[in-house]
Amino acid sequence: MPNSTNQFIRPITCKTNLQGNLEIGGCDIVELSKKYGTPLYVIDEATLRSVCRDYKKAFSSLKKINMMYASKALCTMATSAIIADEGFGFDVVSAGEMYTVFKAGVDMSKVLFNGNNKSVDELILALELGVGRISVDNFFELSLLNELAKGRGKVADILLRITPGIECHTHEYIQTGHLDSKFGFDLTQIDEAVELILNCYTNLKLHGLHAHIGSQIFETKVYHDEIEILVRELARLEKKFSIKLNEINIGGGLGVKYTEEDMPPSTFDIAEIILNSLRESVDKYGIENPTIFIEPGRSIISTSGVTLYTLGSSKQVPKGKTYFAIDGGMADNARPSMYQAKYSALIANKPEKKASQTVTIAGRFCESGDILINKINLPELEEGDILCVFNTGAYNYSMASNYNRVEKPAMVLVNNSQSDIIVMRESLDDLISHDIIPDRLKNNV
Ligand code: LLP
Repeated sequence: MPNSTNQFIRPITCKTNLQGNLEIGGCDIVELSKKYGTPLYVIDEATLRSVCRDYKKAFSSLKKINMMYASKALCTMATSAIIADEGFGFDVVSAGEMYTVFKAGVDMSKVLFNGNNKSVDELILALELGVGRISVDNFFELSLLNELAKGRGKVADILLRITPGIECHTHEYIQTGHLDSKFGFDLTQIDEAVELILNCYTNLKLHGLHAHIGSQIFETKVYHDEIEILVRELARLEKKFSIKLNEINIGGGLGVKYTEEDMPPSTFDIAEIILNSLRESVDKYGIENPTIFIEPGRSIISTSGVTLYTLGSSKQVPKGKTYFAIDGGMADNARPSMYQAKYSALIANKPEKKASQTVTIAGRFCESGDILINKINLPELEEGDILCVFNTGAYNYSMASNYNRVEKPAMVLVNNSQSDIIVMRESLDDLISHDIIPDRLKNNV
């Protein structure tokens, strides 16, 4: 039995209704697909709030905790407003994410700006909007940020992003804490960075250290090791430089359950490991309890999201697979083609019907690798059936593209039988809205 919301495959309000259709947030999924069209991203507000509350409960015994949501998983104004309402701050990695949360009314002192190659314009925006912390990734950025802050008569509050050298068992592309990572200062470079901050960069104020070890993590021990390293380094720096540092940011990474085989730990399991490791490490290295920042993305938003597609053409390869094609695919969910990610799905207009065949769900984009689900057991299918793919809240819309010049889907928020559009479907005119034909070519058409 799952004991936190990230351990569910489906949104917590998902059920079969009296009409025999799938229902989420009190809304009939078949009706939603008729009203808003497909492909359609749907976010269940109750599930999103439930995960936020799990996190708050799990860490409630820790006085000095700063919970932030990693916006890269999904960044829209409406979802940001909900997450802010639950008391979370935000980790942002671009001007776009920063601007979105700002426009959603987020308190910018609760925002941390992170990234391995922030531009001058982005750093200026962060200083002007007054983001609470900038996590500085490298020597170039230290000097650049100091200059920009000096030019504006400001002192930037920073953390140093470090690479703790921890390998975790997740897809190679989403591991970030190992030694050869492109992110952060190597452990052997931290002292030089601190010396520069203390002796030369008078417009930077260092508060602590930041690391992130990877994503879709199922092991808990890696967090134990990460905290030990961060506390050890904090204690070492405090002693060596006679300074007081009191913040450690341990990043995000907790996994979610895409398929029955996935067994992610609960938020409570993770909190227990983090709290124990913190207690042990603080005792071992003899420092005061630092403020802990966590910045989960996927585990906050993923389970609340589903994507609806309409089934179209089908193809039975003689002695081969049976394909059913949907009206979306790799442009609205790049994860299967990028990371061989697996998903679970049901047919929303007959969720209770027994599976009678194994099929492959193919995307509509011009690439053979555009297969959304390689093998899935489903009932008899026909054109017009609505496929509901679960756990698509994270890294689907946020990684979406306009490949094949296809409009990005709309996103709808459901709650208490009400549905509201929170991202409009792109139109054909949206697609060409940034195109310009130079005057000298105009006679050619
Ligand atoms: N903090 C930092 C510094 C990060 O780099 C990330 C994710 C997070 C927090 C949030 O991690 P989460 O809790 O979501 O695992 N596109 C990939 C995931 C890339 C994650 C990158 N960094 C995917 O679709 O699986």
